[in-house]
Amino acid sequence: MKTVAIVQARMGSTRFPGKMMEIIGTQPLIEIVLSRLSRSKKIDQIIVATSINSNNNKLIKFLKGKNYSIYQGSEKNVLQRYFQAAKEVNADTVVRITGDCPLTDAKLVDDCIEKYYSTKSDYLSNVMSASFPDGLDVEVFSFKSLKEANKLAKSIFDKEHVTPFIKNAKANSIGSISYPLNYSDCRWSVDEPEDLELIRRIFKFFSPNIYFSWEKVLDMYKKYPDQFNVNSHINNNEGSMIGTGQKLYKRAKRIIPGGGMLLSKRPEMFLPDAWPSYFSKSKGCKVTDLDGNEYIDMSIMGVGTNILGYGHPEVDDAVLKVVKDGNMSTLNCPEEVYLAEKLVEMHPWSDMVRFARAGGEINSVAVRIARAATGKEKIALCGYHGWHDWYLSSNLHNDTNLDGHLLPGLRPNGVPRGLRGTTLPFKYNDIEGLEQLIKQNHGEIAAIKMEVSRNERPMDGYLKKVRDLATENNIVLIFDECTSGFRETFGGLHKKYSIEPDIAIFGKALGNGYAISACIGRREFMEATQKTFISSTFWTERIGPSAALKTLEIMEREKSWDKITQTGLNICSQWKALAKKYNLKIKTCGLPALGSFSFNSSDSLLYKTLITQEMLKKGYLATNSIYVCIDHNQNIVKNYFSELEPIFAVINECENGKNINTLLEGPVCHSGFKRLN
Ligand SMILES: Cc1ncc(COP(=O)(O)O)c(C=O)c1O
Repeated sequence: MKTVAIVQARMGSTRFPGKMMEIIGTQPLIEIVLSRLSRSKKIDQIIVATSINSNNNKLIKFLKGKNYSIYQGSEKNVLQRYFQAAKEVNADTVVRITGDCPLTDAKLVDDCIEKYYSTKSDYLSNVMSASFPDGLDVEVFSFKSLKEANKLAKSIFDKEHVTPFIKNAKANSIGSISYPLNYSDCRWSVDEPEDLELIRRIFKFFSPNIYFSWEKVLDMYKKYPDQFNVNSHINNNEGSMIGTGQKLYKRAKRIIPGGGMLLSKRPEMFLPDAWPSYFSKSKGCKVTDLDGNEYIDMSIMGVGTNILGYGHPEVDDAVLKVVKDGNMSTLNCPEEVYLAEKLVEMHPWSDMVRFARAGGEINSVAVRIARAATGKEKIALCGYHGWHDWYLSSNLHNDTNLDGHLLPGLRPNGVPRGLRGTTLPFKYNDIEGLEQLIKQNHGEIAAIKMEVSRNERPMDGYLKKVRDLATENNIVLIFDECTSGFRETFGGLHKKYSIEPDIAIFGKALGNGYAISACIGRREFMEATQKTFISSTFWTERIGPSAALKTLEIMEREKSWDKITQTGLNICSQWKALAKKYNLKIKTCGLPALGSFSFNSSDSLLYKTLITQEMLKKGYLATNSIYVCIDHNQNIVKNYFSELEPIFAVINECENGKNINTLLEGPVCHSGFKRLN
């Protein structure tokens, strides 16, 4: 019988890329694993099974230089890689070792092999019961079982983790080796940089000997437990439990402050430890994560960017044409002129247009224009308008301890205190409040900047009164339609209320997922752009305006604002009906196509987390709000509600005494920032 140890190793680890070649003492990690394993008396051959990927070149070159056998196979289907490697060397028995375990212990490996043969098991390991520290894992199984698993296993999980299928199939002939005491909390494998730090300490302690036994490491642990604290905060079960997206997010947080670029997409906002976090594909209202799981997006649909669904074929074709013909040049793209004309045609009160790519930046453009046009500095504002200094300065206060009180959740650190008082937040639907503000700041306000409607609907006459106040006081009225635009009308929501601003801003859905934002306005104000300096290189690229032109064409044809409003109204009434059925008090709010609900309960955030947790298991990205797209058809909505219903039933039980905390499998989601509308 030929016994072959197959060591799986690759450079593209999600959590710790390149770890195989990290130096411990004087040698790369993989060399230590192989050297220690070579001391085995029962292994006939060692082969490293790595993946076909150019990022492994350094590893392969090194191993070849040291004359180790190598097999290169599938990156994701590790089961197949094992099978093919075993077949190539005619193995009868396979010993599975993972390359990230530099404390692999040859004596322990031999014990496992011996017991595997003596008990005539089909599969034997030392990981079945909680006993050995993590990082000493040995699995022994027959080539026959491996061959069978390779043929029959279908799930991504089985293919990635190699042995679960064998363990299931051979449940009656499984052997196990355990240690009498439980040290399974100790983490001696290398998945994260902190793990490597621990391993380096251990090898330094025993230097120059690299062949010390695992029991000696245990002695060290008992004597110097503090040395082992460096990675004790990392959960041992994480590796197999969490998805690739969560692993990548951990890596992201080490190198990207906040983990990503947008607060609203942080996994913590949904399901801190289990949200899939990253996508590989998106189409219609479906999203695929990095592990190939497909979800129906019943949440924020790219934060409201895709009214026509992800990857709309006609918009994508328009973009692909740009890619083929050229996205950039020294000359300008004609599409920006066509798009400007189209937006003005849709909003006849406006005369001129400027473009940017993001919502926050186009808001800054509008504020600059208003200040330049009026020669005044203060901005009265309501709603959210982005991350820039002019806006965040609202949260500066005389008393630094009170910084942030106006728009809770947005911290103004880094915004010059000199800007304090240049913005004047006011409450939506409170016309007297706004009147007061204008009186108190007589003649100093350049612009009133607000969303037409967000969570609340405007009270009768409110918008008209705002318009009149602006006109009477020579104030530029700016409607930020970044989010409200195209949700209820073909263009700005202000069209529905027949109130014309002086400037309106669009972003988000304008390019159906491609970056483009616009500021449209009356000539007398827009021409002030020439009295100041507003200019940026990438505002001239061609994809944004081309995508927007096609998006508008499709929106107009499909009357998408009607469709999404109808769907949104239906969703909202079904939320209410479900709540009524289960005797739960909820509050719904938002434009129909951007609807959301919240439970009137002190546990509302916990319930929201529960919904996300349970809906994820059923294949939905879901929270307590839905940004509707035209692909959310009746069937999808119907299925969503049949999956949601049992969760409402559980929430009802929780309201009647069941402990919600016992149902949550991880931390509660974070809440976002608060607006004044
Ligand atoms: C009304 C409004 N204005 C501005 C912004 C900021 O847009 P962006 O995130 O593209 O900078 C947002 C984003 O949520 C918004 O809703």
